[in-house]
Amino acid sequence: MSLLFEPATVAGQTLRNRLILPPMCQYTVTTKDGVPGPWQMVHLGARAAGGFGMVVAEATAVTPAGRISDQDTGLWNDAQCEAWAPIADFIRSQGAVPGIQLGHAGSKASTWPAHPGFDSGPIPPEEGGWETVSPSGIPAVSASAPTRELTDAEIEEVIAAFVAAARRADAAGFDAVVVHGAHGYLLHQFLSPVTNRRTDQWGGSFENRTRLVRRVVAGIREAWPADKVLGLRLSGSDWVQSSWAVEDTVRLVRTLVDDGLDWVDLSSGGIGDTYLGPKGPGYQVPLAEAVKRSTEDLVLAPGRGLAVDGDGPDGGARRLFVSTVGSITSFETAEAVLVNDRADAVGIGRAALVRPNWPAEAARSLDDDRFRELVAAPYHRGTWGRP
Ligand SMILES: Cc1cc2nc3c(=O)[nH]c(=O)nc-3n(C[C@H](O)[C@H](O)[C@H](O)COP(=O)(O)O)c2cc1C
Repeated sequence: MSLLFEPATVAGQTLRNRLILPPMCQYTVTTKDGVPGPWQMVHLGARAAGGFGMVVAEATAVTPAGRISDQDTGLWNDAQCEAWAPIADFIRSQGAVPGIQLGHAGSKASTWPAHPGFDSGPIPPEEGGWETVSPSGIPAVSASAPTRELTDAEIEEVIAAFVAAARRADAAGFDAVVVHGAHGYLLHQFLSPVTNRRTDQWGGSFENRTRLVRRVVAGIREAWPADKVLGLRLSGSDWVQSSWAVEDTVRLVRTLVDDGLDWVDLSSGGIGDTYLGPKGPGYQVPLAEAVKRSTEDLVLAPGRGLAVDGDGPDGGARRLFVSTVGSITSFETAEAVLVNDRADAVGIGRAALVRPNWPAEAARSLDDDRFRELVAAPYHRGTWGRP
C-alpha cells in the first residue's frame, strides 16, 4: 500500500488520493471571450478519468484585463460559468474533486499564448493588446508591455472581481478554488518588494504588501461554501535577492489560517528575468516542507483544512493541507515526498500532459491494489491496467 493513494478529507471534500493535477493554462478557448470549450472538457476530463484525486482547471481570469493572453479562460460572466458547469460535473463523475484557479495576471497580462507559432512577449495594441495594471507600474519581467499603477478604488474592484468569480465557480459546481498568488502575477506582484513600491496601505510593510492577498482570501471565504476547499498557490520564494522569501511565506500562511484558508500549494519564482533558484526533481519540495513544519502547531477551526485523523468533515483535529509541485515525474519521487512527510499531496503537471493516466499507472507500478479503482471502467481492458 502506498501513501500516495491514501484518501484525504480537506474541508468537506474527500480526495481519493494525494495526487493533484495542477492548474495549467491551455491558451485554447474557442473564441476570445474566456469561455471554456471542448478542449478543457477533454484535457481535464481525461486526467480525472486517469485517477487524480483533484483536478484543477487552469488560471482563470477574474476580469478581462487579468487574462495572460486572449486565449485564457475567465469567470467574470454567466456565459463562462455555464460553460464550466458540465466540465466540473464530468470531473466529479470520474471520481476527482473539481477545482479551479482564479487569477489576475497584472503586468504579465496581454501576452501572446505560449503556443508554437506565436511570438513571445506582449501583444502590441494594434494587434489587440490591452493596458496592463500593477501595484507600482513596475513590470514583473522586462518582456512586458508598459504597465500602470492601480488606484485604491481599482484594487477594491479587483477584490470584488475575485469574490464574484468564486461565487460563479461555486455555481458552476467546482468544489475547490485556488487563488493564484504565485508566478509573478498580480497578487504576487503586491507581495514582492521588487514590484510593490507603494506608499499607501497596499505597500511598504509586510502587513501592507500582504493586504491584498489577505482581503481576497477573506472575501472569498465569506462567499464560498463552508464545505468547499479554499486554497492559495504561492511562490514560496522569488529566488531573487532581498525579495519575497520562504520566511515571508510562512508568516503570511499562518495569518491566512485565521481567514479560513484550507490549503496552500507551494510553487516559486516568476518575478525578475534571471532564475536563481534550485533545479531538478522535487526542487520546490523544501518550500512545502518548511510551510508544513511551521504550521503543524496551528489547530484549524472545525471543518477547515485537512482532517488529520480521518474523522470526517466536522470531527477530529484539523491542520493546513500543504501540497508541493515541480519536476516530479517518477512515481517513487512522488511517494517519497509523502513517506518522508514533506507535504500532504503532490502535484503532477507536465508529466501528466503526456501521461493522463499517471495516477493509475503509479498505483499499479507501486503495487497498490487500489489501481483497479483508478482505471476508468471503459479502459479496464487496456493492458496497462491489468495486473
Ligand atoms: C503548459 C503549462 C501551463 C501552466 N499554467 C499554469 C497556470 O495556469 N497556473 C499556475 O499556477 N501554474 C501554471 N503552470 C505551472 C504548473 O502548474 C506547475 O506548477 C509546473 O509546471 C511545475 O510542475 P511540473 O514540473 O509537474 O509540470 C503551467 C505549467 C505548464 C507546463
